[in-house]
Amino acid sequence: MHPFPLEPDRAAMTEMGGLVLDRVIDRTEQLPTRPATSALTQAATAALVESFLAPPPAQPGDLKSLLGRLDEAADCAVETAGPGHLAHIPGGGLFTAALAEFYNRAVNRYGGLAAIASAFAALEESVVRWIALDVCGLPSGSGGLLTSGGSMATFSAVVAARYDCLGEDLATGTVYTTAFAHYSVAKAARLAGIKKDHIRLVPHTADLRMDPDAAAALIRADRQAGLRPFLLVGTAGTTDTGTIDPLPELAGLARREDLWFHIDAAYGGFFRLTTRGKERLAGVEQADSITLDPHKTLFMPFGTGALVVRDVAALHAAHDGSGSYLQDIGPAGGVPDSGHLGPELTHEIRGLRIWLPLHLHGVDAFRDALEEKLDLTEQVHAALSRVPGLEVPQTPDLSTVIFRIRPKDDSPSAADRADEATRRLLERVNAHRRIVLSSTVIDGRYTLRICLVSHRTHRDRIIEARDLITAEATRTVSHAVGG
Ligand SMILES: Cc1ncc(COP(=O)(O)O)c(C=O)c1O
Repeated sequence: MHPFPLEPDRAAMTEMGGLVLDRVIDRTEQLPTRPATSALTQAATAALVESFLAPPPAQPGDLKSLLGRLDEAADCAVETAGPGHLAHIPGGGLFTAALAEFYNRAVNRYGGLAAIASAFAALEESVVRWIALDVCGLPSGSGGLLTSGGSMATFSAVVAARYDCLGEDLATGTVYTTAFAHYSVAKAARLAGIKKDHIRLVPHTADLRMDPDAAAALIRADRQAGLRPFLLVGTAGTTDTGTIDPLPELAGLARREDLWFHIDAAYGGFFRLTTRGKERLAGVEQADSITLDPHKTLFMPFGTGALVVRDVAALHAAHDGSGSYLQDIGPAGGVPDSGHLGPELTHEIRGLRIWLPLHLHGVDAFRDALEEKLDLTEQVHAALSRVPGLEVPQTPDLSTVIFRIRPKDDSPSAADRADEATRRLLERVNAHRRIVLSSTVIDGRYTLRICLVSHRTHRDRIIEARDLITAEATRTVSHAVGG
C-alpha cells in the first residue's frame, strides 16, 4: 500500500498532526533564544535556496525529514515571529490563529459567497463589523471585507472611490497623499487606472504630517486646470515613523471638496483599542474607507488584512459581477457576499483566524498587549534620547522610534559622515542577532527605526535592545564622528 495515501486514516492523521504540532510547539518555545536573523553564511544560504528549487519527486517522501527541511527553510530567514523582530512593521503569528487556520483549511468551507457557508459568512461579518464599528467608530451599517493584506485593502478602496466619484471616465481623476504614505497607495491608484502623474504628493509639515493647507491648494489648482480631484488618502501611522496625519482636518477638507477620504491605518488602526491610541487616532471615524492590517497590530499570521467602508453599497457596486453558473446560489439573509466586495471570488473563510483568538483570549488581551507596546515605546524613546551622540528627532505617535548619529556640525560633509556612521551602527546592532532593526531616509538623512508591534516583544527584550543600541552607538560615535 502507498505509505502516504491522499486520504490518510485516523491513526495516520493523528501521527502526522502530532509531528507537525510538536515541531511548532518546539519552535515556539525556542523563539526567545532563536537568532533574530539567519546565522547561515551567504554560501550556505545560496546552497539551501538552490536545493529548494528542485521539483517534487514521483515517489513518496518521509514526513519527519520533510518537516526537517521546512525547519531549515524557516531558520534561513528573518525570525519575524520572535521577540527581537523590531524591523519594518513586525508581524506576530498568534499560535491560536494558526490553530484556527488548521481547522479552517481542513474543513475548507467556501468563503466567496455567503449562502454556501452562511454561518461562517456571519462569523466573518461579525469580525468585519467589530473592526468597522467598535475599532474604527464607523456608523452602524458600515462593513467591508477581509483581504490578504493592506495593499489589497487599499486597492479595493481606491477602486470603490474611483467608481463612485469618477464613473467610467478615469482620465482626469487625481489622488492626494504624501511622500510618507506607503507605496501601496500609489500602486493601488495606478492599478485602478489613475495616471501616474495624477497622484499628488502633498507637502508635509516639519513633524512629518500632511499639510492640509497645501493639500487644499493643490486640489484647487487641479480643479482650475480641469482635473477631477476625487480621493484624499491620509495615513494613520506611517511605515517610516508611525506618524499620524491630521485626520480631523483632512476629513473636513475632503467633505468641503467632495472627495472620498481614505485612511491607511494598516499599522495604526488597532491602536484605537487603547486609550492613548484612541485619542491620537481621532478622526478615523470620519473616513469613507479604512485599511487595517490584523497581520500587524492584531498579531495575526501574514495574509490577514481588512478594508472597512462607510458605504458598503459603493464597495459592492465597484466589485459586483455574476455568471449563470452561480444562478442557484441565493443571498444569505443580511450577510454580504465577500466575493462581490473585492477582486477575489474563491477564498478561505479569512475571519476564522481572527474570530477564534478574539473569542478565546477576549478583546482586552489585545488591548493590553498594545498598551504594553506604547509603554515600551515611551521608555525606548526616553532612553535613546539620553544617549550622547544620538539624535532622536521625533516624539512617537505610535510604537516606532527613529534615531541616528548626530552630525558634528551643520555642514553637508558632517551629515554624510553621520549617515555613514548610522549605517555602521545598524550593521553592528543587527550583527548580535538578538534584535533586528531597519533603516529609512527622513528628510534626506539615513535614519534607523525601532518598531514595537509583536505580542512577543516584552520589557526584557527592549531593555536588551536599549543596552545594545547604547553600547554600539557609543562605540560608533567614538570611532567615527567624535574623532
Ligand atoms: C502603513 C502601511 N500601509 C500599507 C502597507 C501594506 O500592507 P501589506 O504589506 O499588508 O500589503 C504597509 C506595510 O507595511 C504599511 O506599513
